[in-house]
Amino acid sequence: MSLLQISQLSKIYRKGDIQIDALKDITFNVNQGAFVSIVGRSGSGKSTLLNLIGGLDTATSGHIIFNGKDLTRMKRSELAQHRRFSVGMVFQSFNLIPHRSALENVMLALTFGGIPRFQRRERATQLLSRVGLEQRLHHKPAELSGGEAQRVAIARALANSPAMLLPDEPTGNLDSTTAREIINLLQDLNRSQGVTIVMVTHEQDVAISVSSEVIRLLDGQIEQYDQTGEAP
Ligand SMILES: Nc1ncnc2c1ncn2[C@@H]1O[C@H](COP(=O)(O)OP(=O)(O)OP(=O)(O)O)[C@@H](O)[C@H]1O
Ligand SMILES: [Mg+2]
Repeated sequence: MSLLQISQLSKIYRKGDIQIDALKDITFNVNQGAFVSIVGRSGSGKSTLLNLIGGLDTATSGHIIFNGKDLTRMKRSELAQHRRFSVGMVFQSFNLIPHRSALENVMLALTFGGIPRFQRRERATQLLSRVGLEQRLHHKPAELSGGEAQRVAIARALANSPAMLLPDEPTGNLDSTTAREIINLLQDLNRSQGVTIVMVTHEQDVAISVSSEVIRLLDGQIEQYDQTGEAP
């Protein structure tokens, strides 16, 4: 079943007299349970695509149907709901709140879900245990390694049980061993929890080894679409 259907999606940025076609006529589907990697050189439109799926930015034309609902027709409030509950974004630079502990960072994401405070603490603890950080609950981001900080960001992204994780270069700031651990964690979440993943990565080998599909962008267009045969 398709969780996400993207059709004829385009995004034009206008800066003064310059027009940038960041995405041009993008069409593809993502099935429930898939692990899709988006690859392509710098400036090819990868983050733009992820941000549109995540509801952080709006399309110029085309459609993004998520779970049967078209993001491009949503009201602001519906889009806010989509960002909070349907998807979980993960960034290269972690984007954690510096003066808050790992536990508090995850608990903050649960604030909007209407869960009572004591349950938020319990759920945040569970989420951090799931990513292997039960011994680091009270560390602040600066007191964590890069790999640990990214695990906190992943726990936070999972807080409201999103159907889809959207990691943008999640291993870009990590050494290769730590990067592999983060990829293994994402793969485990995909396989054992059934979380659908659409991930931007520079690492072609990683993409091929864990993904069910690899989409290569070039100048805002799909240059290549491969099914790797990797079981989702
Ligand atoms: N907010 C914006 N305003 C204007 N132009 C933008 C904006 N965001 C991105 N662009 C342009 O759109 C194009 C695609 O950018 P995007 O960030 O999607 O690339 P990317 O594939 O993620 O690159 P990288 O691998 O370097 O992260 C680039 O040419 C960029 O300069
Ligand atoms: Mg990018």
